Parts: sequence; C-alpha cells; structure tokens
Amino acid sequence: MIFHVLTIFPEIITGGTSSSILGRAVEREIIRVHPVDIRDFAEDRHQVVDDYPYGGGPGMVMKPEPVVRAAQSLDLPEGTPLLLLSPQGRPFNHQMARQMALNPEMALICGRYEGVDERVRQILPLVEVSIGDFVLTGGEFAALSIIDAVSRFIPGVLGDEDSPLKESFSDGILEYPQYTRPREFMGLEVPEILLSGDHARISAWRRREALLNTLGKRPDLLESADLTQEEKDFLKSWQTDQKNPLFR
Ligand code: ADE
Repeated sequence: MIFHVLTIFPEIITGGTSSSILGRAVEREIIRVHPVDIRDFAEDRHQVVDDYPYGGGPGMVMKPEPVVRAAQSLDLPEGTPLLLLSPQGRPFNHQMARQMALNPEMALICGRYEGVDERVRQILPLVEVSIGDFVLTGGEFAALSIIDAVSRFIPGVLGDEDSPLKESFSDGILEYPQYTRPREFMGLEVPEILLSGDHARISAWRRREALLNTLGKRPDLLESADLTQEEKDFLKSWQTDQKNPLFR
C-alpha cells in the first residue's frame, strides 16, 4: 500500500516510518511512504505556504493553492481515500483503519498553523479526520498514527497476521489483561486459571475480564459492542453491585 503524505515537514514522516515495524514493512516493500513537500507547490520564489487570516485574528492560515496543487499532482485513482488531518475531523477509529487498509493507496494532508483555507475542503474530495479531542502542532503526528494503525491491517506487516483481529476494539470491547513471567512479582501472582492449561476455562475467563475491563475503563463502548444477552445480564449485575471495586 502507498501512503502519500502532503506536508511541509517531510522529514517527520520519513523519520516516523523508518524504524521498528513500519521501517521493516517499508524495507520489505509491503508499504511505501511517499512524502510530498507542499512547499514544492508554492507559487513564489520564497515558497510561502501560509498567510494572514482574512478578518484578522491570531496565527497564520495555510494557503489553498499549494495544498490543492500538491494533491492534484498525485492524480489519485477514483475512490482513493484523501484525508485531511484536523481536530475538526471525524474521530478516527479501529474500523476506519481496517477499512482503509483495503485500498492500494491513500493520501493524507497535514494541516499546520491555525488551519487550512476553507476552500481546500470545497475543492478536494476530502475526508476530514481527527485522532482525538486535542490540538497538535500539526497533522504530521496524526498522519503517522493513522499510517501505523492502517499498516497493522496489511497482511505481512505484523508477524502474526491474526493479531489485529484479536485485540482491543476488534469486537468493540477492550482486551483482557495479559501476564508473562515471572509467575509472582512483588507479591502479585498471575491468576491461577492461566496456568491451568484448560483452554475453554481460560477463554471464558478472558472474555469476562475483557467485559469488566471495558465496563471499568470505557463503558461508552458497551453501548455498541456485540454482546450476548447473557453478557449484558452479567454486566448489569456488576453495575448494580455496590461492592464492585470498579465503582467505588
Ligand atoms: N492536527 C492538529 N490536531 C489534530 C488532531 N487532534 N487530529 C488530527 N489532526 C490534527
């Protein structure tokens, strides 16, 4: 898969994708990261890409011409996702990452300064995406997060191809707690059941713990999670149990 990234800081994108799992995927040519320097599409000698906001106010705004020209230079096949990273965007999630990984390429535009001239949104067929309700210094770190999340769904990027489908969010709830050696650490024991070798009981325990983990940390996810009636009843019993340590 090719990730085209429109930015005025291509080195952030190259740096963030040249080591660890993404670096290996690039090396093996499973993914390709193509930074496009928006400054190369500026019209003037000084390669200016920002200007003062009409109507006044603090900060600078990204000019529309270099951004639009950089995007159009890619000549993307119809249907290719073209994302604008911005705190105003739709919240990015696991399902979107999985869906985007089905495409042979995608493009990400990194905003900077106070934002991008509004006409960019009107001219380009953008999907505006945010990685959370906070403001970054620019879209580059959001783009890297999205490239990372999408890449995990591309066969061959992770060692175990099944793993993105078994983890937190894959079925709408958080993951169960994990343990490794030592069996006892600072007086804390690994739950006995995990040492039992009884896979059916371990599986049931993990599902229960995943449900309780979600109830304690992200109860909002339970509203849209795919749960059996038995699981819903189980969670209800915990919610009404005043002795539940999660609700103290
Ligand atoms: N650019 C600045 N803040 C951002 C955010 N939260 N998500 C995506 N892009 C951004």
